[in-house]
Amino acid sequence: MADRILIIDDEVSILSTLSDILTDENFETEVAESAEEAMNTLNNNDGREFSAALVDIWMPGIDGIQFLDWTKQRFPRLQVIMMSGHGTIETAVKATKKGAYDFIEKPLSLEIVLIKLNHALKEAALERENETLKQARRPQDHEIIGESPEITAVLEQVSIAAPTDGWVMINGENGTGKELVARQIHYQSLRREKPFIELNCAAIPEEMIESELFGHEKGAFPGAINQKLGKFDLANRGTLFLDEIGDMSLKTQSKILRVLQEQRFERVGGSKVYMVDIRIIAASNKNLQEEIANGNFREDLFYRLNVIPIDLPPLKDRKDDIPILIDYFLKQFSEEGQYPNKKISKEAQRSLMAYHWPGNIRELKNIVERMVIMVQEKTIALKHVPPVIRMANNEMLQVDEFPTGLKDARESFEKKFIQSMLKKNRWNISKTSEMIQVERSNLYRKIKHYSIAVPK
Ligand SMILES: Nc1ncnc2c1ncn2[C@@H]1O[C@H](COP(=O)(O)OP(=O)(O)OP(=O)(O)O)[C@@H](O)[C@H]1O
Ligand SMILES: [Mg+2]
Repeated sequence: MADRILIIDDEVSILSTLSDILTDENFETEVAESAEEAMNTLNNNDGREFSAALVDIWMPGIDGIQFLDWTKQRFPRLQVIMMSGHGTIETAVKATKKGAYDFIEKPLSLEIVLIKLNHALKEAALERENETLKQARRPQDHEIIGESPEITAVLEQVSIAAPTDGWVMINGENGTGKELVARQIHYQSLRREKPFIELNCAAIPEEMIESELFGHEKGAFPGAINQKLGKFDLANRGTLFLDEIGDMSLKTQSKILRVLQEQRFERVGGSKVYMVDIRIIAASNKNLQEEIANGNFREDLFYRLNVIPIDLPPLKDRKDDIPILIDYFLKQFSEEGQYPNKKISKEAQRSLMAYHWPGNIRELKNIVERMVIMVQEKTIALKHVPPVIRMANNEMLQVDEFPTGLKDARESFEKKFIQSMLKKNRWNISKTSEMIQVERSNLYRKIKHYSIAVPK
């Protein structure tokens, strides 16, 4: 695809000459007669980035240097080449210090313009390539840890869904890793170099949400002093993560449905229609089917979002992952805080595994962090595990569960005990017999006697 070049000069003849030359060289050009006009062009461009700008230094209104400052803030990847009619070295040096790629003196030599422009583009391409390389390493920052069949299935869904561009609906309790999964999908997708923009629907007041999503034009309402870009502007060509979508009001739901379908929107207080290309990933900890039944969520929006559903299991349903997660967080927090590496004792680990983790992985992560900071010893022992967790495990034998006669109670207990030990050993009979110190043949007899169903 041709590089897009923006040419800014208050001299119209320069604009047309440069534009003609560059078009001949297979560039795509846009011209602006002032910095203000150029800013509008950059802000409103329909998602297709400009690679470089040729900017006159001396212009009425906002001058080239101020414009340069602005682009460095807003469009840091735009390569800016200054054009100076007065040839003062100081101005040129000032501009390059402020981040201009280079400068050209007027009267312009078209040959020099082309050479410098091509250099600038080559450097930009290299920068982009480095950025891609860096981005490619990014998934590690959002690594989804776990080896349980449940999380393995999720990882598989993520890698299948990611490159398809299909919309994804992630469901799961608090702290199960919904955001992590959303980021993984983005970083494994073809949009990985483009923005991942998050909008927490629960955190934004109803009356703000439209301006948050669509942005507003200058003067749209009292206090709208400047034009503001919304999440839709920012997420263009990338991914928009709509978190806690179940908390979005019905009114906003209907607005958003139309925009999502058409991929066109207007800023608040404006009538210009902007086209976007956005992938949506939504997440919710509410059961949206129930919300639909209760009239709190639009069914049509649900079906539009739910193209690829991913359900995150609560941590208590994949306890096998707990030791791996503990080790991962131990290492992470030791490295971050530069604490010496810590180990965890078997008893402490067992106690953490037995807990039901209502706050899921976030809660586990917080507790591990706390222990890394607080425990002075090299090994985290049972006594260091927060009492709430230890106590939750230490439930008394529920006498009511058993028959009142001792013989029946003993049998009932024995059955339950064998069942749970078998389960613990993944139904491996030899291992179980070793652990509970009962002969294998004897264990078989008991399994038969109690009609315990052993999965194949
Ligand atoms: N499988 C995992 N491996 C490693 N870290 C994880 C995993 N799952 C979650 N985490 C970590 O746990 C924390 C909570 O995850 P995340 O914010 O993605 O959950 P969430 O489902 O969006 O939670 P909430 O509903 O509260 O917003 C994060 O710090 C995340 O990095
Ligand atoms: Mg979240």
